[in-house]
Amino acid sequence: MVKASAPGKCILFGEHAVVYGQPALACSINQRMTIELEKEETFDTWRLDGRTFNPRKHPHIEYIRNQLSTERNEPLHIRIRGTIPKASGLGSSAALSVALCGALQQLRDESLNQAQASTISHQAEATAQGGRASPLDTATSSYGGFVVLSDTIEDGLDFIETRTMNVDGKTLQWHLHTFKASIPEDVSLVVGNTGVHGSTSAMVKQVATLIRQHPERKVELDTIGAIARRGIQALQDGNMEAVGQAMTENHIVLRSLGVSSPELERLIRAAAPSSLGVKMTGAGGGGCMIALTRRPEETVGAIEMEGGRAFITNFNEPGLVMEHIT
Ligand code: PMV
Repeated sequence: MVKASAPGKCILFGEHAVVYGQPALACSINQRMTIELEKEETFDTWRLDGRTFNPRKHPHIEYIRNQLSTERNEPLHIRIRGTIPKASGLGSSAALSVALCGALQQLRDESLNQAQASTISHQAEATAQGGRASPLDTATSSYGGFVVLSDTIEDGLDFIETRTMNVDGKTLQWHLHTFKASIPEDVSLVVGNTGVHGSTSAMVKQVATLIRQHPERKVELDTIGAIARRGIQALQDGNMEAVGQAMTENHIVLRSLGVSSPELERLIRAAAPSSLGVKMTGAGGGGCMIALTRRPEETVGAIEMEGGRAFITNFNEPGLVMEHIT
């Protein structure tokens, strides 16, 4: 048996504006997906959590299976374990893809290759989502820590790679970076889940319609880009007050774009008094919010009083890792 795990992610700055080329910053969270692979002894087909694997139901798993098939190509039993809630903007599907790549690499007697897992998972997610997927989720899940996506190679960040993908006959390009942030030990991130599922594609479409009908509103996307750059710089400087302030400002612009929701606003209002900064995270319309805070228990309590589910996550959670088998 082999076992690998990969973390979920949250977006600290730049969702939606990143679709239009502005920079975005994501970081890994301490909720993970774990994949166990075992040789299937009883059946001659692949199995997924005790059932026959259906490639049409899981196109991303099928894509990865084809890319990283083993030499003997024997049937395998895939077991998925994990704590990342689905459809809430925390990257559960990307983490599953990345962990599966890691487990298959081990089965092929290869060493763990985060760059390969990042690339193949991105292609798998794009295949499953009709060709559209930014590499932010899969890269953050593979490398862990902080990942910045931008349309230019950014000075002062550690450049990882340039990713290109063909979407609707157009070649899209992203420059991926990482960096080490020195975050004081007393600062944590709290994630609050509204429990309402948000649709990424519907929210992205809603913003596209708004910009098409009101081209002057594009200035709001530029504003998010400027806030994201300031936030990233503040994080590099270790200035947590400025990071929090930039998060809150980022949220105000997202709200004005119409991608927040009454449930998100309730959790954000509850978390704000105990936090350095608060914002929704991901596509919105439901899903999760995040709070940067020095009083994490108090922030968690405030979110739960408003009916949200909350947890505290650390920074610099590792990306793809091989799990010890007990
Ligand atoms: O909700 P999530 O984690 O799928 O985030 C979507 C982020 C967007 O910027 C709204 C879309 C994208 O492709 O970057």
